[in-house]
Amino acid sequence: MSTNMVSMDVLVGFCKSRGFVFPGSDIYGGLSNSWDYGPLGVELKQNIKKIWWKMFVEERLDMVGLDASILMNPEVWKASGHVDTFTDPLVECKNCHERYRADHVDLSRACAKCGQKDTFTEPASFNLMFKTFIGPKEGSENVAYLRPETAQAIFVDFPLIIQTSRRRVPFGVAQIGKSFRNEITPGNFIFRTREFEQMEIEYFVHESEWEKHFESWRLSVHEWLKACGIPESLVVENDIEPEELAHYSKRTIDFEFLYPFGQKELYGLAYRTDFDLKNHAEKTGKDLRFTDPLTGEKYLPHVIEPSFGVDRTFLAVLLAAYTEESVKSEDGKEESRTVLRLPNILAPVKIAILPLSKKEELSSVARPLAERLAKKFRVEYDETQSIGKRYRRQDEIGTPFCVTVDFDSLEDNAVTVRNRDSMQQTRVPIDTLEEYFLQNGL
Ligand code: GAP
Repeated sequence: MSTNMVSMDVLVGFCKSRGFVFPGSDIYGGLSNSWDYGPLGVELKQNIKKIWWKMFVEERLDMVGLDASILMNPEVWKASGHVDTFTDPLVECKNCHERYRADHVDLSRACAKCGQKDTFTEPASFNLMFKTFIGPKEGSENVAYLRPETAQAIFVDFPLIIQTSRRRVPFGVAQIGKSFRNEITPGNFIFRTREFEQMEIEYFVHESEWEKHFESWRLSVHEWLKACGIPESLVVENDIEPEELAHYSKRTIDFEFLYPFGQKELYGLAYRTDFDLKNHAEKTGKDLRFTDPLTGEKYLPHVIEPSFGVDRTFLAVLLAAYTEESVKSEDGKEESRTVLRLPNILAPVKIAILPLSKKEELSSVARPLAERLAKKFRVEYDETQSIGKRYRRQDEIGTPFCVTVDFDSLEDNAVTVRNRDSMQQTRVPIDTLEEYFLQNGL
């Protein structure tokens, strides 16, 4: 655990008070472990998804995208092994009925809730799939599942993707979307929830080349971490022991982050072999093999799967960016400032336009300027409170640049641009602002 990292209590309070993440169903007393992304949170989350899509789909010639249904034919989940094996071991305290994941607690110790010893039941397998029914009747013939991972639709749609995208192995398919798991012990804010978002890639390769591609994706995960501003020092690679691997995997590296509550999974990188395509081919009787147009070889591709949680990325990005530091105020006093040192590309607001006063003379320049810049960048307009307080608020939400329109602006057609990190102020002509921001990393 990093010693100067913000505590979870402070971060959760910060997220609520600044509009990043709210407790779900708040005015009804909440719904445990459900969270809503507020006005700033939704921007940050969208930016995470946008840069992921850009890096892994748009900028690569060997990738295509997919946006599949959350509800799929239930047979999919039998073939994938989820109906039978997507389980966690559950124990219950016979005294207070608190439930735990058997692999998350020391069963020789007392129950954390009631303090009694030797009260745990034998571990029982608990399936994590969320069950529902399609149509008005609730019978076994109408059962459907909310998908527990986005991956399966990529395998199921594989033949149509091959036919329509004109891609040859090696190539990959990316998807971003919601997944659902009836977790036994959700918690730690947005770290483990029952409804969450994934960004997944299934990368199809010839079996003989899986190690090469696995290594290349391992490096890509590090590039991604860098783009998110997550320092290497906060991430540990954990090569999963063979007996701990998921039912579909022959090798997995978990990328673990040093959260304030311990070192835990951020992302996974798995070699899924041809497990999924083989099972879907057997179950459906469809030929899912790829024919190599050069050699004529017909084979089931093997799969490398880098899997990224959106919500865990959001959490790690905030934990890495949140900084409290002491600075000198304009009158020379020491004061503390909170800064979200987000990469510019992720910042929910890129530029704050701050007229020095509410006077019409200034707003008549500042408002049209904000409207002009909003066509290119996410802009916030704020004319309340003192300029110092407004700077602090923008620092707290990670806004890279503040633009102050003052009375001199009426004379020299220039504004003061303040940099979030260095706090340096530069006078920039209003006409050249777009160029200035593009040259300075927006
Ligand atoms: N398709 C492979 C797969 O789903 P996983 O390790 O179970 O693998 C991938 O999940 C990623 O999804 C995790 O590394 C994590 O980032 C995210 N994730 C999984 N369960 C989650 C949960 N309950 N809440 C939030 N994120 C979760």
